This record gives sequence, C-alpha cells and structure tokens, in this order.
Amino acid sequence: MEFSFDINQLFPERVSILDQTIVSGPKSALRPDLQAHIATVIDELGRASAKAQQLPAAITSASKLQTQRHQLYLLKDGESNRGRGVVVGFLKVGYKKLFLLDRQGEHVEAEPLCVLDFYIAENMQRHGYGLELFDFMLQHKNLEPVLMAYDRPSPKFLSFLAKHYCLTPSVPQANNFVVYEGFFRNRSGSP
Ligand code: ACO
Repeated sequence: MEFSFDINQLFPERVSILDQTIVSGPKSALRPDLQAHIATVIDELGRASAKAQQLPAAITSASKLQTQRHQLYLLKDGESNRGRGVVVGFLKVGYKKLFLLDRQGEHVEAEPLCVLDFYIAENMQRHGYGLELFDFMLQHKNLEPVLMAYDRPSPKFLSFLAKHYCLTPSVPQANNFVVYEGFFRNRSGSP
C-alpha cells in the first residue's frame, strides 16, 4: 500500500507498535503533521481490511484507536516505492472480557488477548507477511496462539491459524469469538 508521504520517515522500524498514545492528541509526542499521516495510514488500512472481509464498516480507524486500549502492529517494506517504503499490513489486538463455553459446555469467564483485526495488502497475501507479523506479536506478548481468542475470524484467517499453528478444530461458542481446545486446558489451575 503506497502513500504520497515517506513511510520510512513515519515508521523507522520494520514492525511498529501503535496505540492510543501515538495516534494524536495531547499525549502524542509526534509533530501534528506526522500524526495526521499516521492517522491517514490507519484509516486506509482499516477501510481495506473491512472491504476484504465484506464488513459494512471499518472496525479499525485512527479515531477508534485513540479511544480503545488496543495495540496495532504495522508491517512495512522499507525498500519498495523507490526507497520511500510501502505499508504491508497490520494486526490489531486487545484484551476483552469474554464469557466462553468449554468443551463440556460449562461457562468460563476469561479476559484473553484477542485478535480483533488482521489485514495484509491484497497483492502481498500468501507471501508469509501475515506469519511474520503474527510471530512478531506473539514474541512481543510472550504468548502462545492457543491462549488467544479470535473475533469473527475470516475463512482465510482460519486457514492461516490451521496451517501455521495447527489450530483446529475450535470449541463452539455462543458469541462471535473462536477459541481452540488448548485454551481451556492450558488455563486449568490458573486464577
Ligand atoms: N485463501 C485461503 N487461505 C488463505 C488465503 C486465501 N486467499 N490467503 C492466505 N491464506 C491462509 C492460508 O492458510 C495460506 O497458506 P497456503 O497459501 O499454503 O494455503 C496462509 O494463510 C498463508 O500465510 P501467510 O502468507 O503468512 O498469510 P498472509 O500474509 O496472506 O496473511 C491474512 C493472512 C491476514 C488472513 C491475509 O490473507 C488477509 O489479509 N486476508 C484478507 C483479510 C482477512 O481475512 N483478515 C482476517 C480477518 S479476521 C480477524 O482479524 C479476527
């Protein structure tokens, strides 16, 4: 995904972690023009992700990120676009209090880290970028994918989780979240 401004100036690292403090407002340490460019990137990514998932509205935007305690991992390719860089995609995670059903149908209250949105630019899908981003987040959070919950995962994402992390089949839930067998096994004994 190309932009008219220099992506490498905005995002020096290959993976950047954005949250409510960086986007805009008095808490941000960034210059207002850079804040505006970051907001443009997030809004564009959110729109593209919603379109790819055929959602009626974007679930990721700069204004939403400002008010929610979510973290957005953004992956760039710094070499492309004559050295100005392109945005490859993003992964948004956050903690949610959930009422889940275990394999026996018993209610379990939990507050796991959830994958809320995930998108790799159309022309870059199936090249391993999604895995790079997801692995980065797992290392950063020091977490196993089986301990996470997945908000309304698309068929492509379900296939991704099965292929890279052997996550299949899931435990049926009454809500839109998907969790896997090990989620409950690995939680037993925890507070
Ligand atoms: N059809 C089926 N499976 C796919 C597809 C596709 N078009 N694209 C990726 N996958 C899955 C497959 O398991 C694939 O392995 P395969 O090529 O051997 O079949 C695997 O992902 C490839 O892994 P990566 O290359 O690391 O994944 P990618 O960079 O494509 O990122 C992602 C995966 C984020 C799901 C990407 O395909 C995408 O953006 N899809 C459109 C948006 C989307 O569905 N996002 C998930 C929303 S749900 C949520 O966020 C909770």
